[in-house]
Amino acid sequence: MNHVTIIGSINLDTTLRVKEMAKPGETIHAIEHFTAGGGKGANQGVASKRSGAKTSFIGAVGNDAAGNVMLELLEGEEIDVAHVKTIDNESTGQAFITVDESGENSIMIYAGANNHVTNELASSCQSVIESSDFLIAQFESATTGTIEAFKLAKNSNVKTILNPAPAVKNISSELLALTDVIIPNETETELITGIELTDDESIKKAAEALHDLGIEMVIITLGSRGAYYDYKEQSGFVSAYKVKAVDTTAAGDTFIGALASKLKQDFSNIEEAIDYGNKASSLTVQRYGAQPSIPFEHEIKETY
Ligand code: RIB
Ligand code: NA
Repeated sequence: MNHVTIIGSINLDTTLRVKEMAKPGETIHAIEHFTAGGGKGANQGVASKRSGAKTSFIGAVGNDAAGNVMLELLEGEEIDVAHVKTIDNESTGQAFITVDESGENSIMIYAGANNHVTNELASSCQSVIESSDFLIAQFESATTGTIEAFKLAKNSNVKTILNPAPAVKNISSELLALTDVIIPNETETELITGIELTDDESIKKAAEALHDLGIEMVIITLGSRGAYYDYKEQSGFVSAYKVKAVDTTAAGDTFIGALASKLKQDFSNIEEAIDYGNKASSLTVQRYGAQPSIPFEHEIKETY
């Protein structure tokens, strides 16, 4: 069984379901309103745990009602939250999401306590990092904490996975040098490499550009098309499963967490692990909300 540790964000998501997104200056009625557990980091942790990996979390919440809700949710999943700090006088991370009829979303986040996932916090987590097979990070929490955690991981041969989301332009080269596996989506790939993904050739070129940053395993997620991976002499497209999406929130997070729970440390089962991630996220997009939509391993096995 893999041990997956995530350093990153915890958010309480507030979602409005709408027919169409509001335009600037416009007021519209929503069809439905709900709150759910979210945050890219926490979603990845839930996906990893529900697919059977031992899962630990390094993060922070505020000393508020949302923080209590989020801690209880993660504890309920039996995720190890011993390294989730509660920060006084700070808000728990919040995400405000609208989802339209096609399942497409638009998200605004307030980082709050996620900005307190510092290098001090990371360095206090040395033993849990060292006992992991994989360490995953995203871009919704403080970068200094992620860099420190990745350094500790590299020192003990723990494989580091960077999900450069949400998209940012200038990624720390120090962080990239500490990254073993990068998993960007199309937008993030274009932003990092400057290459527009228009066809297979451009996808392959972008993967090469990501390798040139010093990263050995590149996995570009391509939405309903699936994913492209490139690792040493091995590369290829792994198709997604065709389903009708109602809410794509947490699809990428599910893919990453599920994949990490199944991937072997020597990457020998990479295609299989990507296929498993595709199966998992195909279920996530058919349900509303972030964490409530993330499937358990038995559901994935029953479906495929
Ligand atoms: O990736 C989906 C997540 O992004 C949501 O759960 C929301 O919290 C935002 O962080
Ligand atoms: Na969903």
